[in-house]
Amino acid sequence: MSILVAYATHTGATRTLAETIAETLTAQGCEVALADIANDPDPGAHEAVILGSGIRMDALEKSAIAWADQHREQLAGRPVALFTCSGSAADPRKEGKQKGTDHFLARAGFTPVAVRNFPGWVILDKMALHERALMRTLRTPLGDFRDLPAVAAWAREISPLLVA
Ligand SMILES: Cc1cc2nc3c(=O)[nH]c(=O)nc-3n(C[C@H](O)[C@H](O)[C@H](O)COP(=O)(O)O)c2cc1C
Repeated sequence: MSILVAYATHTGATRTLAETIAETLTAQGCEVALADIANDPDPGAHEAVILGSGIRMDALEKSAIAWADQHREQLAGRPVALFTCSGSAADPRKEGKQKGTDHFLARAGFTPVAVRNFPGWVILDKMALHERALMRTLRTPLGDFRDLPAVAAWAREISPLLVA
């Protein structure tokens, strides 16, 4: 079975999560294609899809939304798992919820077999200058909040769900 792990990122954290997922599934014997959504991977060429996106301003990356829209039919026709990567997912008060995920799924046109909102990193050096200023104004907590073992555990957990 071939699984596409497609990700959209600005500062790279989502890529590291996608890589962890791809490595975990490969170790389980799956055939995995890891692709940046910027390269417009074709979900129709795979039996299942894992879509990952960073969160900005309470929304998935615009490129991820556009890609999902463009490939809506193919995504609706195969098992899809969705993950996001954000600063706020590190906040236990959010209880795993992510507004951007909910908004996206309300109009995605497919129902994922699994959804998870993972913490990423908020690192000023990796951002554009105007975004650093915004982060300072919003007093967003800074740091690397990723939990890659939890990401790998999720990949193992969902792999049986990706079989159509
Ligand atoms: C301009 C900007 C806006 C952001 N907006 C949000 C947000 O609305 N909610 C949130 O939880 N995190 C937000 N973040 C934090 C990112 O989601 C976090 O840095 C994540 O790791 C980004 O993933 P990426 O590195 O793959 O781009 C924002 C970060 C930036 C730079």
